[in-house]
Amino acid sequence: MTGHTVRLQTLGKVTSCRSDQSLLDAYLRENVWLPHGCTQGTCGSCKLKVLDGEVDHGDAPAFTLTPEEREQGITLACQATPRSDLLVEPLAEVSDDGVVRHPLRDLTGSVVVLEDIARDTRRVVVELTEAMPFNAGQYAELRVPGTGVWRQYSMANPPSETHRLEFHVRRTPGGVATDGWVFASLAVGDAVDVRGPLGVFGISRPQEEPAILIAGGTGLAPMKSMVLHALAEGLVPELYLYHGGRTEADLYDGDLFRALDAEHPHFHYRPCLSEQQWDGASGMVTDVVLEDFATCKGMSAYLCGPPAMVEAAGKVLKRRRMAPRLVFKEEFTDAADLAAAGGPLATAS
Ligand code: FES
Repeated sequence: MTGHTVRLQTLGKVTSCRSDQSLLDAYLRENVWLPHGCTQGTCGSCKLKVLDGEVDHGDAPAFTLTPEEREQGITLACQATPRSDLLVEPLAEVSDDGVVRHPLRDLTGSVVVLEDIARDTRRVVVELTEAMPFNAGQYAELRVPGTGVWRQYSMANPPSETHRLEFHVRRTPGGVATDGWVFASLAVGDAVDVRGPLGVFGISRPQEEPAILIAGGTGLAPMKSMVLHALAEGLVPELYLYHGGRTEADLYDGDLFRALDAEHPHFHYRPCLSEQQWDGASGMVTDVVLEDFATCKGMSAYLCGPPAMVEAAGKVLKRRRMAPRLVFKEEFTDAADLAAAGGPLATAS
């Protein structure tokens, strides 16, 4: 496979990139941090300007990379592969935010835990042969055997556990990764290929603002990692975790969060059910947040879950006067959520 030299103009960083490798993949493996989010071609946060040379735009969708942008030499680093040596420049500012980054790597492991934890939801724990350092809130990709398909799942364990990764997988009817693998043939002891870490979502350094974490379904996974890490390291002065489901069958790990709530005066766990009356909070998780806070000014929020929930949460937080720069969203979309929303990966989950 031929390789090309890629140079980042402002940082002066040079890497070698194979003609079948994305520019983002090449730089992250060298531990050169480029802005990115979803690695699915859907968030647009990895846009680069190609100042010299030619790229293949790959599967970049037109709603993320418009024909006009292509004309201007803009490409998506997560989708583009080189056709020549390149000089490129990220569109987003690459600044040192003080967060320690970890290089992207290929690893192998085996399944040590496989359990049903909620409606159509399984916990998969993979023991790696080598450590994979990551930040709380990041995700990894698992290869679906025999398909060439990789699927993204957030690590739910704290980053102090680098050899043992916990994932929460929600079933998509007919999905390649779920009905075709995790909910069909996958068994304890099976080998798994893992690629990671990826993504910028999460809490990895101390912050002054209280944080509201709003999760829907398996959007709880990165929040679990963040809560465990933030409490262990004392990163956040006040931490609120909201987990939304339709009925009690959708909630999981409640005993753990209730125990943390009892142990840590500044941690508050609020499970919410939208279709069942119970002794906890009832209603859409975003409506419960709206009722609970008269103002969110001076607070931050982390959102992960179905796109409709994330959008509704953004509106609620704006209504409660949270600064938009303090609202963080997981940019990759779970395949089950995309399928439910009729999104671009709906047929390939
Ligand atoms: S579009 Fe490339 S990281 Fe999201």
